[in-house]
Amino acid sequence: MEAIKQMTAIKTLQDTTVLHNGVKMPWFGLGVFKVEEGQEVIDSVKWAIEAGYKSIDTAAIYKNEEGVGQAIKEAGVPREELFITTKVWNKDQGYESTLAAFETSMEKLGLEYLDLYLVHWPVKGKYKETWRALEKLYKDGKVKAIGVSNFKVHHLEDILADCEIKPMVNQVEYHPRLAQKELLLFCKDNDIQMEAWSPLMQGELLDEPSLVELAAKYGKSVAQIILRWDLQNGVVTIPKSIKQHRIVENADIFDFELSLEDMAKIDALNEDRRIGPDPDNFDF
Ligand SMILES: NC(=O)c1ccc[n+]([C@@H]2O[C@H](COP(=O)([O-])OP(=O)(O)OC[C@H]3O[C@@H](n4cnc5c(N)ncnc54)[C@H](OP(=O)(O)O)[C@@H]3O)[C@@H](O)[C@H]2O)c1
Repeated sequence: MEAIKQMTAIKTLQDTTVLHNGVKMPWFGLGVFKVEEGQEVIDSVKWAIEAGYKSIDTAAIYKNEEGVGQAIKEAGVPREELFITTKVWNKDQGYESTLAAFETSMEKLGLEYLDLYLVHWPVKGKYKETWRALEKLYKDGKVKAIGVSNFKVHHLEDILADCEIKPMVNQVEYHPRLAQKELLLFCKDNDIQMEAWSPLMQGELLDEPSLVELAAKYGKSVAQIILRWDLQNGVVTIPKSIKQHRIVENADIFDFELSLEDMAKIDALNEDRRIGPDPDNFDF
């Protein structure tokens, strides 16, 4: 019910959620994982901005930060209208190395400040030191908001136990096959905005019969149904596409609302199934 109430306030692609430090973050953005550096990423980001997107999600490990920065310059939109996220990669975790990795990312992006910096994965024995570096970058005014990615409840509890600044965002794998109910509740209770990665399960959910049925009912695509489900659950979403028509299509989800009954039908697809690695068991 709360998610639905919240959702009625989200009317456009530019609408934002307010993070616990007051920073406004768009509900919707473009992800650029596996988008090639150079023309491919420049085109995708420019098409997205042209279509009205304000938020772009990259990471040092995607190796396309220069292209993202180039596209931002070429798009000609005032910097303050955009919301740019990047992430510190695992091998760079630790205090000093994170501070250095941040500077490298900023040089590549060609930006004066960042909107959101994330700890990409909870690397055991390191993520707390990494978090201290993010707190420093935040206090120094180099980044407007800081957060984590791929943190489970126990990782968040561990950080919350002794952090100075609470994470503002937790970006995790989230789609109808992995609804993460417990984590979402924990994030809501702690004022941490959850954000979905691989919201379309990297394309694997698009033939799911009950979603195809809902798509026909609402006159929308399956991708649009899933992305709308994210928003109505109060989860920020960042689908990736390198195709202009899909970039436009994915963002066209602000003119309809899924009923509570249909939200429940999508919830019923949960199988706690991941497409990516388990944050308790990764070796990179
Ligand atoms: N923090 C993390 O650890 C982490 C991990 C993974 C991803 N992410 C972030 O989350 C973003 C999104 O996740 P993702 O890229 O893994 O997967 P995704 O957004 O779930 O799916 C992308 C795939 O779906 C296709 N697609 C997109 N829109 C479509 C549409 N309307 N109809 C049919 N197919 C469509 C894309 O193909 P085309 O490009 O050919 O259109 C691509 O193959 C990433 O780009 C990245 O920014 C973060």
